[in-house]
Amino acid sequence: MRITTKENDIESILYSEKQIAAMVETLGEKLTEDYAGKRPVMVCVLKGASVFFTDLCREIDLNLDMDFISVSSYGLSSKSSGVVKLNKDVDIDITGRDVILVDDIIDSGLTLQHLKQLFSTRGPSSVKTIALLDKKVRHDPALTPDYIGFQCPDHFVVGYGLDYANNYRNLPYIGILKQEVYK
Ligand code: IMP
Ligand code: MG
Repeated sequence: MRITTKENDIESILYSEKQIAAMVETLGEKLTEDYAGKRPVMVCVLKGASVFFTDLCREIDLNLDMDFISVSSYGLSSKSSGVVKLNKDVDIDITGRDVILVDDIIDSGLTLQHLKQLFSTRGPSSVKTIALLDKKVRHDPALTPDYIGFQCPDHFVVGYGLDYANNYRNLPYIGILKQEVYK
């Protein structure tokens, strides 16, 4: 089935379903190699990473745990402050575990940095980060995740889990949202 109802709102497709699947497979293979002999705890940052997360986990040929967190940014601005409130925490005890935090996209990079610091205080064996998309020009290179899929141009993008006002998450591709939709 193809999702066509929202196509009028999309300026152009950045990454097709096929391109995304190939990238997720590559990332899965890399994690399979890097975590060989281990049982990582995969942590999904809800809700945006949900689609990427479930696909990624199925490309990792290891025993693993799946858990979920939900965060929201403090403050009134739509821009990330980096101070995040944990609305839902993991259920699994991560002491001594290898944790992989999975997010959809890095913009300022502050959310994932904050989460990495938070999880590091809980006595894990390691904490690494992965994001499917990286808006490189928007943040300090030091905040680049340990693993990334695509370098994303500085546009507002939706689909494959990414939303605008909670919509468009179910698009099978990632596209640039027309400015008229949100301006
Ligand atoms: P930051 O890296 O802390 O600035 O925030 C990253 C979060 O902002 C992501 O997890 C997304 O939820 C959201 N975000 C940033 N850019 C976009 C975009 O282009 N489309 C949809 N969500 C975005
Ligand atoms: Mg997010």
